[in-house]
Amino acid sequence: MRRFTASEAYLARAERVIPLGSQTFSKSRTQYPFGVSPYFITRAQGAHCWDLDGNEYIDFVSSLASVTLGYNDPDVTHAVTEQLQSGVIFSLPHPIEAEVAELICELVPCAELVRFGKNGSDATAGAVRVARAFTGHDRVAVCGYHGWQDWYIGSTARRRGVPRATQELTHSVPYNDLDALRAVLVSHAGEFAAVVIEPMNVAAPRPGYLEAVKSLTHEHGALLVFDETITGFRFAKGGAQEYFGVTPDLATFGKGLANGYPVSAVVGRRDVMKLMEEVFFSFTFGGEALSLAAAKATLTKLKAQPVIPTLIARGQAIVDGTRSIVEANGLADVFSVSGHPTWSFLNIADARGATAFEIKTLWMQETLQRGVLSVGSHNVNYAHSESDIAALLQAYADVLPMIGKVLDQGTLRQALRCEPLVPLFKVR
Ligand SMILES: Cc1ncc(COP(=O)(O)O)c(C=O)c1O
Repeated sequence: MRRFTASEAYLARAERVIPLGSQTFSKSRTQYPFGVSPYFITRAQGAHCWDLDGNEYIDFVSSLASVTLGYNDPDVTHAVTEQLQSGVIFSLPHPIEAEVAELICELVPCAELVRFGKNGSDATAGAVRVARAFTGHDRVAVCGYHGWQDWYIGSTARRRGVPRATQELTHSVPYNDLDALRAVLVSHAGEFAAVVIEPMNVAAPRPGYLEAVKSLTHEHGALLVFDETITGFRFAKGGAQEYFGVTPDLATFGKGLANGYPVSAVVGRRDVMKLMEEVFFSFTFGGEALSLAAAKATLTKLKAQPVIPTLIARGQAIVDGTRSIVEANGLADVFSVSGHPTWSFLNIADARGATAFEIKTLWMQETLQRGVLSVGSHNVNYAHSESDIAALLQAYADVLPMIGKVLDQGTLRQALRCEPLVPLFKVR
């Protein structure tokens, strides 16, 4: 039996000096049931990682989908090591900024000008500010998750600390629901600067949906911003905008841009982005060269090797394999699979007298025990091998029917060796 005693002890130590013991909500104990989960990872290579207790996992979190090529990818590590010899940050821009911007403009349909940030949140906040400056409007409609900053998080349940005046400017709309978007835009006609949307997350767009969002947005004098923090350099080389054939005015990128190195980008139409010369979007580490070297190596590899087709093929095997396990075991009322093959979701429903969170907790307890690290999605990276996928499906072939059995027997709570997770914050 895997044990997590070192992780648990270190969590207690970390929590004495760090709220929640983590810098990232999705990596904290709020997402990993205490007693059956690791809390710290000390090393990762390819698609595998090792926790503080020495347990090995096949990692389907891929650092919140930021690692697209695999941990310690040799080309990226080489580029970063080389860059390190000449420096990390300088008193004037380094030429690599323009090189990476050129690569992005080459790959991404809407990209004519590029600015870099560090986190996805920098990029979405920058996009919203420039959209406000361009249109002269203040309101924003959002669909999906767009980061920690006031302009967005004020529209969610995690809005503590965000001024009411800011909260009131952001309107959340459900995905695939044009009427809802229209109603929001009409309710404050002429006041919207932007519609910011994840082009796809859990559900696929209905035919014509993204095209209609674009026309509706433009009819109301607003700009369309695709938040491609996850879909970028994952769904296709040019992101979801290439994959779905819908070009937004602006787009934001983050996670997959540099295989896990901290750099993000806001990109888009020249006439809008040109305003960035006046709109203040500026920070000390914006041109940090190690991450840009990582981005250059990542984008170059994306162009030279069949990265995306491989991610799609591996991801499709996960989707198909999981679906057939669910079907074969009569579990369609409990589990379903959705999303793009490179970023698919195992959805869990309230079923057979248990809540989705109780079922998810048991699923995590059992998959972690079998060396699978996931919080409910499969964030595929280029280092996931066919045998990694086979191992995931073998774990599911053991765990899913076992969950069905305890649900039927009404013994789920007895099967849990921890308290169930509680619903805290859902944005997708
Ligand atoms: C679609 C999307 N937008 C924005 C963000 C914010 O990015 P970051 O956490 O790097 O600030 C995320 C992060 O999960 C995201 O998934």
